[in-house]
Amino acid sequence: MRLTVTDILEKKKRKEKITMLTAYDYAFAQIVDAAGVDIILVGDSMANVVLGMDSTTEISLDEMITHSRAVVKGSERALVIGDMPYCAYQTNTADAVDSARKFIQVAGCQAVKLEWFDHTLDVTAQIIRDNIPVMGHIGFTPQTADKLGDSKVQGKDFEGALRLIEQAKSLESAGCFSLVLECVPWQIAKIITERLKIPTIGIGAGSFCDGQVLVVNDMLGLYRKFTPKFVKIYEDIYGAALTGVQKYVHEVRNGVFPSEKESFTMNKDEFKKLEKSL
Ligand code: KIV
Repeated sequence: MRLTVTDILEKKKRKEKITMLTAYDYAFAQIVDAAGVDIILVGDSMANVVLGMDSTTEISLDEMITHSRAVVKGSERALVIGDMPYCAYQTNTADAVDSARKFIQVAGCQAVKLEWFDHTLDVTAQIIRDNIPVMGHIGFTPQTADKLGDSKVQGKDFEGALRLIEQAKSLESAGCFSLVLECVPWQIAKIITERLKIPTIGIGAGSFCDGQVLVVNDMLGLYRKFTPKFVKIYEDIYGAALTGVQKYVHEVRNGVFPSEKESFTMNKDEFKKLEKSL
């Protein structure tokens, strides 16, 4: 049985930590789900870590929907959230609601996530009115990183911290069922977590959040361009994969692979007949 939004809210009430990771395809969705992760986010970080783009703003809605569908297929227990790409709310609110609906109806996700931007509250309220659960996202918001100043960490000064607390409260009032806090000092994340009824999920926001999220390619050492300070690498999957591929290259070059074990054999008599006829 898949976890529901209600199950996630209950976890905060019971003070149980919520686990969340990204996944972008069937294979990784199976791994993340089997490990018992509560929420899988099909993040638009896919633009960087899967598609090699420079910015998350480059990814299309179709790309997000295709991958979200694969993640839903690869998972059984986790709540799957589709990340609304930047392009999905560049026209008007009605289009944004249509895009959110695609994540639910076409991909099979249970909810969507929206980064904070100028009209987030309007768009969030409309999507929720359409019965689609929304996870908010404040602090460092990569889609509008150019508007956030030089520091990646948000809310480091008095005004910035108050702004984040206000944004968090307004998203809860708009009906969000949870909130990602990205690159926020732990003290501010703690205040927000204590003041909201909905769970906070931190990424670079310290240990007092109700849950944690990481980009799966980061925590498995697969994204090698840049590793943020808040990432802990749990396994070197890049290293393991590289060793495997190097062994394959060596064996093919030296005639070791494929052996008889990986080959198909023709019936002896049929083969003799064939040889005679040639
Ligand atoms: O796109 C993403 O992976 C995200 C997480 C970092 C929360 O938004």
